[in-house]
Amino acid sequence: MKYKVEVLTGIRPTNNLTVANYLGAVAPIIEIQKQGMSPVVFVADLHAITDKEPAIIRQCVHGVVADYIALGVEPKKTKIYLQSDIIGELATLTTFLARHITVAELLRVPTLKDKLKVNMHPETANTLLLLYPVLMAADILLNRAKKIPVGEDQLAHIEVTRMIAKRFNKKYGEIFPLPEVLQVKSLRILSLKGEGKMSKTNPEGAIFLTDDPKTVTRKINSAETAFEGVMNEKLESHILIANGLAKTELERDEINAIIKEHKDGKPVMGKFKQLFAIVTLNFLKEFQIKRAAVMRDPSYITSLLKEGREVAQKNATETIEKVKEVLRFI
Ligand code: TRP
Repeated sequence: MKYKVEVLTGIRPTNNLTVANYLGAVAPIIEIQKQGMSPVVFVADLHAITDKEPAIIRQCVHGVVADYIALGVEPKKTKIYLQSDIIGELATLTTFLARHITVAELLRVPTLKDKLKVNMHPETANTLLLLYPVLMAADILLNRAKKIPVGEDQLAHIEVTRMIAKRFNKKYGEIFPLPEVLQVKSLRILSLKGEGKMSKTNPEGAIFLTDDPKTVTRKINSAETAFEGVMNEKLESHILIANGLAKTELERDEINAIIKEHKDGKPVMGKFKQLFAIVTLNFLKEFQIKRAAVMRDPSYITSLLKEGREVAQKNATETIEKVKEVLRFI
């Protein structure tokens, strides 16, 4: 079969996004849109029920869609669907695909291996965790997607998808076109202060998209920087955020000019923080106004998801019919 969807990506429905989530996961979709491609994105609510209660996940779906639209995903270019809207086809394909990968192979997928070592245990983790890569393969193959924009952490999942597709094709004919990775550069966005990456678990070091101006200013003012003339990881990360959130070239030029002064040994970190705060506040203000407007009209989001569902459903039905045909299930 031929490719059907040019670019596909799934987004985990999480509340309370940070600027790191925006820069790492949403900005690349917007960039793809800008390049003239038409991505399809879906809210991965079925993946999310691996470790969360379905009713809770359902509650955040509209909010996630509103977040993405307010961040610049344009519904005219980008179709958005809810993964569970095609649960029948997805579950069917997951069943047929799961036969082509062994339990041992799944246990070797790095994301699972790490999870089972670090914060989960085989005795308590449910089996949906083990099936996570197969379900992801089903998402991709059901859509016959060509390019999948992913960060480094998801590369292994695309490999699994390709492997399953190749095995299936070898046995039953060229059914699934092989997906390719559209590598998104991984940004090292660190916590504003203290150890590690920016994350929800250390809220004082994270800028949330919902933060009010006072909170943001406080967090940026207490961010760790660097001595005059010195560059370090923290400052590099602040620059990445400031440049990523800046709306104009002029602002980016200003940021770069300040950093040049800093490298020349001038005491300009106060000035940098001021600009960092301004750029961030402008970004958040625009986002928050737009998100509130989108959320005010729930029927708008419902209609977008309906449009997305129709596209996804059509592609999924086509794929499943073909798969059942070659498996002699019809
Ligand atoms: N596993 C992805 C993540 O954790 C989400 C996802 C699910 C996905 N299915 C997908 C991404 C299919 C791309 C394509 O971010």
